[in-house]
Amino acid sequence: MRVLLTGGMGFIGSHTAVVLQEAGHEPVLFDNLSNADRSVASRIERITGRAPQFIEGDIRDGALLEKVLREEAVDAVIHFAGLKAVGESVVKPLEYFDNNLTGTLRLLEAMRASGVKRLIFSSSSTVYGPPAHLPLQETDPTGEATNPYGRTKIMIEEMLADLCRADPEWSAVCLRYFNPIGAHPSGLIGDDPNGIPNNLLPYVSRVANGRLPFLNVYGNDYDTPDGTGVRDYIHVMDLARGHAAALPYAMSHTGWRAVNLGCGRGYSVLEVVAAFEKASGRRVPVKFAPRRTGDIAANWCDPALARGLFGWEAKLTIEDMCRDAWRFESMRAAEAAAQTQS
Ligand code: NAD
Ligand code: UFG
Repeated sequence: MRVLLTGGMGFIGSHTAVVLQEAGHEPVLFDNLSNADRSVASRIERITGRAPQFIEGDIRDGALLEKVLREEAVDAVIHFAGLKAVGESVVKPLEYFDNNLTGTLRLLEAMRASGVKRLIFSSSSTVYGPPAHLPLQETDPTGEATNPYGRTKIMIEEMLADLCRADPEWSAVCLRYFNPIGAHPSGLIGDDPNGIPNNLLPYVSRVANGRLPFLNVYGNDYDTPDGTGVRDYIHVMDLARGHAAALPYAMSHTGWRAVNLGCGRGYSVLEVVAAFEKASGRRVPVKFAPRRTGDIAANWCDPALARGLFGWEAKLTIEDMCRDAWRFESMRAAEAAAQTQS
């Protein structure tokens, strides 16, 4: 199948491209490189032995998208492209609405014009807001986002539901990711944000490697077993396989669906730090800091629907996630050092 991956050069998109290629599909990566490096395409080639097709472009350019969808004979779209930094979205809401909402609108118009009506969308557990109970199920209420980023996810889910109601030929599968971490086991691709990382794992990796002095643990007074925040971490390779598993479903069903992708169990910040120290053999010094605005105490999902609909479940452990994140960090640091010397 020929699958357009908007944001395909990013963290989750690049791992999904690898899995799709290995399953015999032909991903076409469409990305404006606002948060990705051009070298990702050649790294994917080193992993799979085949260079993925990469088209540099912005999802707000509807004419270009329509041309690509037609000329590349695309069967389905996986829509990863978007800005995703929660804190930044509070400071720059209009940029988030423009990129994520306008971008999605242009994509959907281009898909309609070219007759491609199969979409998988990168949604997030953030649509649930503070959970009333755990584990979170797809039937739980949404709409309580605490920031503009989260609101764009809710609004896009609702746009897709309206579209599916209006035109019964559409299929829109909203995959609600819990906390994707880890990296491809080759260490060639992973999560390497620009600047100081916001998310736990990239931060912990840099502390373990001595690039940052210590981890701020945001809050140790939550109502959780050790007082620190609990999340449902999922290996990015499991998540990527979840997209491959959702694809036949999206091709053979119409209508709107939201599906959780997580492991179905939570780990606290301190448990993740301990697992990372074990995987890396390095120390990760921590300092307790006040709670981060907008954070919730705990969330994890019930992943039963994904198992039932797609025959998919997460298999990799927190040890696998930390080992692969550490391999990626070590290789990235070694590459950077070699480049500085040459
Ligand atoms: P990422 O930033 O690594 O990847 C997103 C990609 O989209 C980047 O390569 C970026 O250059 C590209 N992009 C952004 N705006 C674009 C535009 N206007 N036109 C074309 N390309 C554009 O992020 P990721 O972690 O891979 O996340 C992928 C998707 O999953 C995002 O929609 C994100 O909101 C969602 N998501 C991520 C997480 C997470 O923790 N990583 C959790 C839940 C949901
Ligand atoms: N944390 C720290 N120190 C840090 C970074 C994080 O203690 O330096 C803690 C947080 O307080 C939280 C946990 O580690 O308890 C996880 O935090 P992340 O920032 O890694 O992840 P979040 O759960 O806050 O949010 C992430 C993405 C969102 C997405 C959400 C659900 O950033 O975009 O997962 O998918 F919506």
